[in-house]
Amino acid sequence: MSIQSVHNPQITGLSSAPSHRSQGQAKKGPEDGDQRDASGWSASMYNKTASFVYSSEFTAPILTMLDARPGEKVLDVGCGSGEVTLAIQGVVEKGEGGFIVGTDASDSMIEKAKKNGLQHAFVADAQTLELPVDIKDKVDGGFDAVFSNATLHWCKRNPAGVLDSVKKVLKPGGRFVAEMGGYMNCIGVRSAIHRALRARGYNPQELDPWYFPSVEEYSKLLESAGFKITHILLNPRVTPLEAGVDGWLNLFVRGSFLKNLSDREAAEVIKEVVDEVQVDCQDADGKWSMMYTRLRFSAVLKN
Ligand SMILES: C[S@@+](CC[C@H](N)C(=O)[O-])C[C@H]1O[C@@H](n2cnc3c(N)ncnc32)[C@H](O)[C@@H]1O
Repeated sequence: MSIQSVHNPQITGLSSAPSHRSQGQAKKGPEDGDQRDASGWSASMYNKTASFVYSSEFTAPILTMLDARPGEKVLDVGCGSGEVTLAIQGVVEKGEGGFIVGTDASDSMIEKAKKNGLQHAFVADAQTLELPVDIKDKVDGGFDAVFSNATLHWCKRNPAGVLDSVKKVLKPGGRFVAEMGGYMNCIGVRSAIHRALRARGYNPQELDPWYFPSVEEYSKLLESAGFKITHILLNPRVTPLEAGVDGWLNLFVRGSFLKNLSDREAAEVIKEVVDEVQVDCQDADGKWSMMYTRLRFSAVLKN
């Protein structure tokens, strides 16, 4: 059985397709559980605003590329609340000895992933990953594959450290398959955030949490870390935002880029950015979207 079989949302619980919010439509407000944890993430906010990230439509290409098989041992780096991880779990567990482990820097995400049914999950920074002893014992010889969706661009502090982490846990000849934000991801919105921060005397380069590499840049990194690239490409994708650009900024930017700002100043920046990008990001029906450019790659750890 190939991973294609996990794309049925009836089976996996993956939401099928992203959708839009028009101007004037009701927005969901903050609820209990929406507090961010020390890492700046809240699983509850993530699930309410950004289920498109793990929708079957958007994850189909990378899951197809992973091509997980029953009986394989897989690590999901930056597993979030575990929806994609569980889809892979449904396949690998069908074969003897197969299992998936999820890891994420956020306590809130790992707690939710476990609640969602992920059996093996632990909190760790992908840039300095160490397997817990029980997992190390379980994967004696290394994982068959390391997978990651929508996470590696958050590892700006040490992208090479991520590859060191992956090398440490993969078996020789094992696959590293991932999708992340790449060169020109969030074009227009990112520069509007920079402009709004610069105007207030901040250094936006320092505050910017994102690493969006080009094909050339990431290829060099992979090759110098000892990986043989089997596929790497930038994939532009218009991404509908049900919560609008303001909801997107509140989820992904308030707790990272704008984490040092007061609530008042952060709200001003968000309003300014939304006003500026409206001309690009809102269509004639009032629906919001952003331009995402995803870097998708598959590489094999050389023996
Ligand atoms: C957009 S979410 C993607 C989650 C999941 N892969 C999915 O497809 O739904 C990004 C995730 O990256 C995690 N993350 C951010 N920085 C990280 C780091 N340095 N190490 C591990 N995880 C990290 C966040 O906690 C968050 O769960």
